[in-house]
Amino acid sequence: MADDQRKWDRRDVLLGAGAASLGVITSYAVVQSLSRGSSKDGVKTSIAEDQQSSAKIYDLTAGPAEIPLLGAESDPTAIWGYNGDAPGPLLSARQGDELAVNLTNRLDQPTTIHWHGIRLPNAMDGVPGLTQAPVQPGETFTYRFPLEDAGTFWYHPHANSAEQLGRGLSGVLIVEEPEQPDVDRDILWVLDDWRIGENGVIADGFYALHDMSHAGRMGNVATINGRVGTGLRAFAGERIRLRLVNVANARVFGLQFDDHAPWVMAMDGHPVSPTKVSGPVTLAPGERVDLFMDMTGDPKASFRVRDVHYARFAYTIGLIQYEDESPKTLRDSAPSPLPANPVAVPDVTGLEPQTFAIQGGAMGRLGGAELNGEYTDLRTLAREHGIVWAINGKVPMLKSDMSAKDYGGSAPLAEFKLGETAYLRLKNDTRWEHPMHLHGFAFHILKRSGAEITTPPIRDTVLLAPGEEADIAFVADNPGDWMFHCHVLEHQASGMMGFIRVS
Ligand code: C2O
Ligand code: CU
Repeated sequence: MADDQRKWDRRDVLLGAGAASLGVITSYAVVQSLSRGSSKDGVKTSIAEDQQSSAKIYDLTAGPAEIPLLGAESDPTAIWGYNGDAPGPLLSARQGDELAVNLTNRLDQPTTIHWHGIRLPNAMDGVPGLTQAPVQPGETFTYRFPLEDAGTFWYHPHANSAEQLGRGLSGVLIVEEPEQPDVDRDILWVLDDWRIGENGVIADGFYALHDMSHAGRMGNVATINGRVGTGLRAFAGERIRLRLVNVANARVFGLQFDDHAPWVMAMDGHPVSPTKVSGPVTLAPGERVDLFMDMTGDPKASFRVRDVHYARFAYTIGLIQYEDESPKTLRDSAPSPLPANPVAVPDVTGLEPQTFAIQGGAMGRLGGAELNGEYTDLRTLAREHGIVWAINGKVPMLKSDMSAKDYGGSAPLAEFKLGETAYLRLKNDTRWEHPMHLHGFAFHILKRSGAEITTPPIRDTVLLAPGEEADIAFVADNPGDWMFHCHVLEHQASGMMGFIRVS
């Protein structure tokens, strides 16, 4: 590949004008895909098979590290990572395996790991104060649970989340289907968004009131697999599986693959009937999309992958560069669907949904909300408690996970009997986008703003546009207190967070 093909216009890679004064980011480094079967480039894992059981055991250490986030020509960036990198090690296991992870905390503050999207026992869910005690500096905590569902999942702290994720703590957990689908390679793209200051270091100022009351902490450097300028080397004719994971604090990605029209195969780990898309593939914070993509380009061709979600700020996030050798023959049939996960199908016949109205934020209509049983005006909530959002007129939890304090005393948003069908209407009564995420369950999205969805997707996160409504349902078959919150981490920290109780 010629050198000039690796060159970017740096305005293309970085987002926004604030980034223009950053160091040289002109070189494009093609990073090997994390293709399985071959060596897992750049992914350091510490792994052992448990002799007695089918447990897959990993060690993860959360702590400060330095990585070449801005490219090899720039100074390394100080981050917080798992095992010294961001994203952290790729954990992989087979459906039905047990996963055991020893988390050691080398940060100077408490942490936990939440297994985003995994349906697991409540005690393993990783929410400090709600499902476990925070893991203190120097301590080790072992997570252990069976993997019921195959798919693309991820892990991240649930303590001081906006800062801990904003500094790099997150990683991916791939649970393999019993049989390998018909693809040539399996590639992982972890999408992240960083706010880098003029000096090239991650900017402080987490939990800024402006970020909390608007779209969250938007960054100015977007990365794939923790590096600026990561791309995909492709062979003409192959069919790849591309797993996309959005680990950003706040940025919604809408990826366009130039001339390629991939099939959406799964969302949030759960298979959908294969759907060919030419428009942007949208991923809100927390969400995953598995694509199958036929590499229809010619040998040596290159294509830009653009993030067009915020149309006025569209930019190129990566490049698809075709090799000049060994083209394969394109498959002539569409992929068959991935096997469904064992998620119970809710039946809402005769049920009325319970409404969760999401309120507040900048330019919103919220004048105040109930806090500990007392109506409090929004100014006081913001100034004294850092709260700018409410659900159904209440601040569901005063103590966000910023301090990893006890959630005790907060009342659940809703309670369900074990085995009951939960039917919720999520109503975005704000001017902002909110990816609402539920722990412990995979829900069916039945309707969007009143319109029935014929084949309801199964997800753990649903992105609500301003004014939008979504009806979701799930069988409450997993006992415990389960978080329900916006995955814009600055919104989560400022009132858009509660829990449901299943008992
Ligand atoms: Cu990834 Cu409470 O979430
Ligand atoms: Cu939100």
